[in-house]
Amino acid sequence: MNSLEAFFSPKVVAIVGVSDDPSKIGSVIFNNMIDAGFSGKLYPINPKHKTLYYHEGFPKVSDIPEKEVDLVCIVVPAQFVLEVMQDCALKKVKAVVIITAGFKEIGEEGAKLENSILEIAKKNNIRIIGPNCLGYIVPKSKLNVSFAAATPAEGNIAFISQSGAFCTGILDMAIPNNLGFSHFVSVGNKCDVDEFELIDSWMKDDDVKVIGAYLEELKYGQEFLDAINRNSEKLKPVIIYKPGKSDEAKKAISSHTGSIAGSLQTFQTAMSQNGVIEANSIRGFFNLISAFSRSKLPKGPNVGIITNAGGPGIIATDKVIESGLKIAVLNQVVQDQLKKVLPNTANVHNPVDVIGDALADRYSSAIEILGKDPNVDSILIILTPQLVTQIEDTAKVIINAIKTYDKPILPVFIGDKYITPGFQRISDQKLNCYRDIDDAIEVLSAMLGFQNFKLSRTLVQKNEKISVMSLLNRGHYKSEIKNVIARGIHVLPDEIIDNLINEVGLEGPKQKVCFNIDEAKLFADPIYPVVIKATNDVIAHKTDFKALYLDIYDPNELEAAFKELALTINKNTGKVDPGILIQEQLDYKQEFFIGANRDGAVDVYDINTPGFGHLIAFGQGGIYTEIYKDIRYCLVPTSEMEVQNALKETKIFEILNGARGKEPLAIDKIIDSILAVQKLLLLYPEIVTMDINPVLITKDRAVSVDIKIFV
Ligand code: COA
Repeated sequence: MNSLEAFFSPKVVAIVGVSDDPSKIGSVIFNNMIDAGFSGKLYPINPKHKTLYYHEGFPKVSDIPEKEVDLVCIVVPAQFVLEVMQDCALKKVKAVVIITAGFKEIGEEGAKLENSILEIAKKNNIRIIGPNCLGYIVPKSKLNVSFAAATPAEGNIAFISQSGAFCTGILDMAIPNNLGFSHFVSVGNKCDVDEFELIDSWMKDDDVKVIGAYLEELKYGQEFLDAINRNSEKLKPVIIYKPGKSDEAKKAISSHTGSIAGSLQTFQTAMSQNGVIEANSIRGFFNLISAFSRSKLPKGPNVGIITNAGGPGIIATDKVIESGLKIAVLNQVVQDQLKKVLPNTANVHNPVDVIGDALADRYSSAIEILGKDPNVDSILIILTPQLVTQIEDTAKVIINAIKTYDKPILPVFIGDKYITPGFQRISDQKLNCYRDIDDAIEVLSAMLGFQNFKLSRTLVQKNEKISVMSLLNRGHYKSEIKNVIARGIHVLPDEIIDNLINEVGLEGPKQKVCFNIDEAKLFADPIYPVVIKATNDVIAHKTDFKALYLDIYDPNELEAAFKELALTINKNTGKVDPGILIQEQLDYKQEFFIGANRDGAVDVYDINTPGFGHLIAFGQGGIYTEIYKDIRYCLVPTSEMEVQNALKETKIFEILNGARGKEPLAIDKIIDSILAVQKLLLLYPEIVTMDINPVLITKDRAVSVDIKIFV
C-alpha cells in the first residue's frame, strides 16, 4: 500500500464522534459513507452507543475486532483529538482524517496541539489529512468521509482545496452539471498530507485527467513545480485558483494561514512557464475543470461560429479576437456548401448566421459543414431563444456533433427560462453547455494555450533546461561575497562584479580604472571614442557634480576631461589622484535591461524551503524603463527557448528584429546575456536582486554597462 492508498481505497473505516443526533457532523459523515455505498467495514465510534444507524459501534478504535483499521475519521471536539490519536496509534491505524477545527488556525495554543498530534502520527507511521477540513470524497471507492451535502459522480477530475467552503460551492455546481471527480479533497491545515504530495500522486494516476486546486498560499513554490514536472511524460492540465492578489487580500491570507503571500509576478510566471492554467473566478475555475475534463483540445486557433442571431455573432467575434484566437476563414467551397443548405438571407461567412427562424435541421447542416472543414479548429454554436427555435432538438443535434467531430464544439445557449431544457439535455449527457459567450471563449483560449504548451514543452525538453544542482553555489568568488556580507555591505563592489561577469560570460564594455593620464591615454588609444566617469564608489558619495564626459575622440580631449574630473573629485572628496574609469563609447542602437529578484531565502533551491527562486525580468531599458513597462519574465530554471519566446512578446522585440527596414540587432547576444544572468544567480543564490541597465545593443553585441548586484 502506498502512503495515500489507505486514504483513497480503505477496507476498514471508523468514524469517531458519530452521535445518535443525526444533525451532528460526525453523524452526517457516517451517513454520507452509507449513502455513498461504501462496501468495506464501517464502524461508528462512541462510548455511549453500541449501535448507531444500524451499524455495530465501539467505544474506542482499539476495540474494533478487525486486525487492521485503514482509515479513521476524527470528528470530536479539539480537546479529545489527542487521546483519539493515541488510541489510533495503539491500533496501528494507517491513515486519519481530522475534521475538527481549533488547531493552528486559532493561534499558539492550537498550533501546540496540532504539533503534538503530528508527533504521534510521525512516531507511529500514521498519515493525516487535515485538521480543520471538510474531509474528502473518492467516488470510485464509494467513499465520502466529508460533511459535504452530497457525493458527486465518478469522473476524471482530482480536486483539492484549502477552503472547505470552496469545496462545497464547487460540489453544488458539479452535481446538477453531472461533473465527475476522481478525488475531491479538502486539505484544511495540511499538517501532513499537502497539495504537493496529492498532485504528485495524481500526476501518476491514470484515473486522473485534470487537476483543479484552490490554494490560498503556495509557500513551497519550487516543490509545487517539481510535483507538476516530475512526471513530465504525463503532462496533465492543472487549473489553479489562487486568490490574494491585492495587498488587502494578502493581509487577509496571512492572518488566515500565517503565511506571507509571495510576489504576484513570480507566481504568475511560475504558473505560465509550467503550463498551469490560472482561473480568475469561481465560475471560471468550474468551467475550466469541466472543459478539460470533457472536451477535446483544439488543434489550432481558428474558431468557426454558428449563430441564429447577428448580435451575439459580433460579440463572439470580438471575444475571439481579444483572447488571441482567430476567426476561421471559410473558403469558397465551404461557402458554396453553406449556401446550398441555408436561406438566401443567411451569412455564409464566419460567423455563419443561420437566421432567427433556424430550426434544428439548419443548425445540423451548418455544423456538419464546419465540422468537416479542416480549416476550422473549433466551433462555437450560439443559440438564442426565438419563438420558433427548437431548443431541445437543437441540443440533440449538438450532442451528436460533439460526439462525432474531432474538434471542440462549444454550445452557448443565451437566456434562462426557455433555453434551460436544452441546456440541461446537453448537461445530462455529461457535456458542457455555456450561458455566456465569454465563458466559452475563455475555456477555448485556455485549451489552446495548454495544447500549445504541450507542443512547445516537447521542444523545451529537447532544448534542455539548465541543471540547477550542477551550478548551485559553485561560484569561484563565494568567499569574496561572504566577506562582503560579513562586513554588512549589501551592494557588491565593482571589482567583484567584474570577476562575476567574466565568470559567467556576460560581456561588459572595454574599460579600466586609470590613476594617471599616461595610463589613461595608453588604454584609450585603440578604442576611441571613449567616455570617462568617476568610479561608482565616488559617485555614491557625491551625485551633485559632473561625473561623466562623453564623446572623447583623441588624447587631447582625454587629457582635458581627465584633469578636470580629477580636480572635481579632489575638491568634493579630498582624494588625490583618484581612479577614473575610462570606457569605450559604444555606438549602440537600443537600450535593454535585465534584472532579477529572489523569491524566498538564500536556500530557496533546497528541498522543503519556501519560495519560487529567482525571477528574471527583461525588456526595454534606459531611463524610461519604468514608463514603458515593456517587461517579460522567466523563472529560474529557464531554457533558451523560454527566454526566446518571452523576448518575442516584448514590444522592443520588433525593433531589435529590424522593424521598418532597419538592420536587425544582436538578439542572440541578448538571450546569451539573460542565460548568463541565470547562471550567475545559481552560482550565487546570495543575490537578492540585481539590475543591469542599460544593456547596450549593437548589431553584433549586447554590452552590460551598468551592473548593480545586491546580496
Ligand atoms: N470518542 C468517541 N466519541 C466521542 C469522544 C471520543 N473520545 N468524545 C466525544 N465523543 C462523542 C460525543 O459524546 C458526541 O456524541 P453524543 O452526541 O452521542 O454525545 C459526539 O462524539 C460528538 O461530540 P460533540 O461534543 O457533540 O461535538 P460536536 O459534534 O458538536 O462537534 C466537531 C464536534 C468536531 C464537529 C467540532 O468540535 C468542530 O470542530 N467543528 C468545526 C468543524 C469544522 O468546521 N471543520 C472545518 C471545515 S472546513
